[in-house]
Amino acid sequence: MAEHETHYHDVLVIGAGGAGLRAAIEAVNSGVSVGLVCKSLLGKAHTVMAEGGVAAALANVDDRDNWKVHFADTMRGGQYLNNWRMAELHAKEAPDRVRELEAWGAVFDRTDDGRILQRNFGGHKYPRLAHVGDRTGLEMIRTLQDRAVYTGIDVHMECTVLKLLTDGDRVVGAFAYDRERGRFRVFHSKAVVLATGGIGRAFSVTSNSWEYTGDGQSLAFQSGAALQDMEFVQFHPTGMVWPPSVKGILVTEGVRGEGGILVNREGRRFMFDDIPDNYRSQTADNEEEGWRYTQGDKSARRPPELLTRDHVARCIMREVREGRGSPHGGVYLDISWIKSKIPDSEAHIRKKLPSMYHQFRQLADIDITKEPMEVGPTTHYAMGGIRVDGDTQMTTVPGLFAAGECAAGLHGANRLGGNSLSDLLVFGKRAGEHAARFASGNGSTDLPKDQVESASRWALEPFERPAGADGAGPFQVQHQLQEMMQRLVGIVRTESDMQEALIGIQSLREKAKTVSVAGNREYNPGWHTALDLPNLLNVSEAITRAAIERKESRGGHFREDYQAKDPAYATFNIVMRQGKNGEIEITRETIPQLRDDLAQIVEENK
Ligand code: FUM
Repeated sequence: MAEHETHYHDVLVIGAGGAGLRAAIEAVNSGVSVGLVCKSLLGKAHTVMAEGGVAAALANVDDRDNWKVHFADTMRGGQYLNNWRMAELHAKEAPDRVRELEAWGAVFDRTDDGRILQRNFGGHKYPRLAHVGDRTGLEMIRTLQDRAVYTGIDVHMECTVLKLLTDGDRVVGAFAYDRERGRFRVFHSKAVVLATGGIGRAFSVTSNSWEYTGDGQSLAFQSGAALQDMEFVQFHPTGMVWPPSVKGILVTEGVRGEGGILVNREGRRFMFDDIPDNYRSQTADNEEEGWRYTQGDKSARRPPELLTRDHVARCIMREVREGRGSPHGGVYLDISWIKSKIPDSEAHIRKKLPSMYHQFRQLADIDITKEPMEVGPTTHYAMGGIRVDGDTQMTTVPGLFAAGECAAGLHGANRLGGNSLSDLLVFGKRAGEHAARFASGNGSTDLPKDQVESASRWALEPFERPAGADGAGPFQVQHQLQEMMQRLVGIVRTESDMQEALIGIQSLREKAKTVSVAGNREYNPGWHTALDLPNLLNVSEAITRAAIERKESRGGHFREDYQAKDPAYATFNIVMRQGKNGEIEITRETIPQLRDDLAQIVEENK
């Protein structure tokens, strides 16, 4: 058997962003032993890219808010494809999870009377985002990390999981390698929680860093778990577009929450041009009213920049396509205009948006207190992912749980900003609790040595291959895939583009099987990339096939050839499982009927 270190934990948590940390804390508090695996260093997670706040109906700024309004907003944002049980639990439990975080040391911004301050965000009816300037995700990670270390969790840093180990249909551990030395690690556990985040690196323009290659989704799928809603990818409307080296880096929605406006090269506020019918009654139709809303006037309606992300991203694309974009292919996001509205606006902007101020100053030589930013859509978040039970977060495979971005359901067709941070707190906790319960109720199994053996052989193959026929190395295959997905399965999709993408994915799969890497196992980025490729290809194919299947436009999925919403597609999720020969089998799974009391809440909040 290939040389490896073995670690035993009752619960193994894979991924150390907010969801993984919260799951690990809950599991260890339930009295089981916990191992936490992170692909990079502890604390480096996409959670920090949720900058503007965590959504929870605390009602500190507007006392009309409550869980019911939050639930209704989340369902409307998700175009009613949400797992409504998850939307209910999320809206009900988010306030407690935020207060708990505060008790653990998170330092939120405060209202004048000392409560947690909340700001406006797209699609949320009331100011609901508890925040720490524009560094909310960072503060959450800091707090959860301190707590996790304090509770006594074994952390395995810079460690990538390559396969889940199974015993019959149950998951019993994972096979991994440490990225520094390239040594194999085997984790033997009674339950596994996947919290590996998203798939952003399947696209070329993304707010996601190198870790987000769809690992959890792909590992789960290969172990027999179902994926759902993979067509719904969120393109955040505002990423940096210039200079090229920073293209895709997030510009928080908090800028618009604080009154920032979007204008085209003609200086026109184009978001007033297209307000969807279902948001018309809630949206201001003039600049003055929108401004009053951002300043807390309860009689005013929200500015159109705070419509849902899918809509704002498409409006930006329209301006660019029709020749009214900025010089580098975006539009302008302007917060400096508030100088005409409030005294000492420069200090105000620096206080509310300190990271954005520094980001633009240092990376683009722009002073956002004086000049507009250039922004455009960036791949930010996957609404789709691993299908889970709404209460327990168990996947369709016994012993395998998933939480946070890699799990599907809560957000339906489109996620509201700030709901990701509350998602990972609420469902990270639930996943940890139920994984611990599963571990306590199910004994350990024998280590599946044959699976360890075949996984280690597979992992070393790239060293043994001759250079690929056309000389493509792992970085080229990855680059070609990202460019192709961006071009053919991005914000605007058509059948012919996506069929072309499927052919491209197939040919890149063949290339990926032949890539070779030079050197040895220590510090070898080529090898790391070669091992990421199957995951990237699996999620790219799943996204593309699901997007072909959904012949309508809804939420984050826009088809130029089927531009309208089709009621026939409003009643099911697109679900995928691995067929006998490794192929993707697609089914349409009917969404259970909304419980009467919840249907009434939706109705009352229309
Ligand atoms: O714009 C933002 O600050 C991102 C928040 C989120 O994705 O939830």
